[in-house]
Amino acid sequence: ENFVVTATAPVNIATIKYWGKKDEKLIIPVNDSISATLSSDYMCAKTTIAISPNFEKDQIWLNGIEESIENPRLLNCIRNIKNKAKIGTDKLKWKIHICSENNFPTAAGLASSSAGYACLVYALSHIYNVKENISDIARQGSGSACRSIYGGFVQWYTGIKNDGSDSIALQLAPASHWPEMRVIILVVNDKQKKTSSTIGMQRTVETSKLLHYRVKYCVQGHIDKMIQAIKNKNFDLFAEITMRDSNQFHAVCLDTYPPAIYMNDTSHAIASFVHEYNAAANSYKVAYTFDAGPNACLFTLEKNVPALLYTITKVFPTSGSVKDYITGIPINIENKSINAPEINISMQSDLLKYVIYTKVGEGPTLLPDT
Ligand code: DP6
Repeated sequence: ENFVVTATAPVNIATIKYWGKKDEKLIIPVNDSISATLSSDYMCAKTTIAISPNFEKDQIWLNGIEESIENPRLLNCIRNIKNKAKIGTDKLKWKIHICSENNFPTAAGLASSSAGYACLVYALSHIYNVKENISDIARQGSGSACRSIYGGFVQWYTGIKNDGSDSIALQLAPASHWPEMRVIILVVNDKQKKTSSTIGMQRTVETSKLLHYRVKYCVQGHIDKMIQAIKNKNFDLFAEITMRDSNQFHAVCLDTYPPAIYMNDTSHAIASFVHEYNAAANSYKVAYTFDAGPNACLFTLEKNVPALLYTITKVFPTSGSVKDYITGIPINIENKSINAPEINISMQSDLLKYVIYTKVGEGPTLLPDT
């Protein structure tokens, strides 16, 4: 029996986007989505949970600052886990303390709620001894969080039941299935506050006809092709569908009224750069995808990384040293111009804040007692 548990959970990046709910309260999406879970060594949420007969009340701290426990999504997660708990009824009454933090570079504005809620629910499941699929509970914290319950490549199914019990995530393939896959996040220098995903997608459902077209005629085709691309490790197909789906998601955001604008000029420059790079190489070397913010997430294969990073640092120069600007897996990009396709575009410097280089990784883990 555990009365104190510490867990970490990774961020995931969707290659087929979730955007729009058919049930706001239960968080049931209008379409299936697919994501890759990122290696948690570099970016993860970390949560410690304790229960004790000596605690006076339930309390939560986020990055060291106490927050209200009254958040309905948080309360839902705790209640749902407790409903499935397999521990003594006396212990179920004990108050709970939750300490949650994330180690992402703060300015990155990366999907912190996905890792945060996945981590919370995973840690709770160990405290309360819940063994069944917990992705449907993580989903009720934040939709995309259900995909961070698994490593590798993950599909979140819309499901058909009204209670959302079949709106769960399942692993399509572990990270080891496609070990060459790499992820490069270009953190765009942008301090603008974004419209949150929750509000943005709500407005889209209410106002965009294009969303209904996407859901009715396009997403299932993207899902089928993405599954095929992952199963066959077909990077060309993976890259094309990832970019098409990101573009369609942002088209739907623009079709929202008033529009939800997430990509900025630098984001668009990165998208053009990727198409030029692939065209110059005469094959798919890299794919971009953008979430509800300006940062680009690039997918590529390990063999393409040195030339690609070399070119990125040439096209998007910074005033800082390259060493301080690329973080994550260590890599030497000096003199890696070999095989880099020639492209003749250059941007003004300091459009990128920094670059995170990582790979596809495993799902949440428990940390040993400290
Ligand atoms: C653009 O999961 O953050 O990242 O369910 O309201 O918490 P809520 O929204 P959230 O939305 C993520 C949207 C996205 C696409 C994706 O991750 O699939």
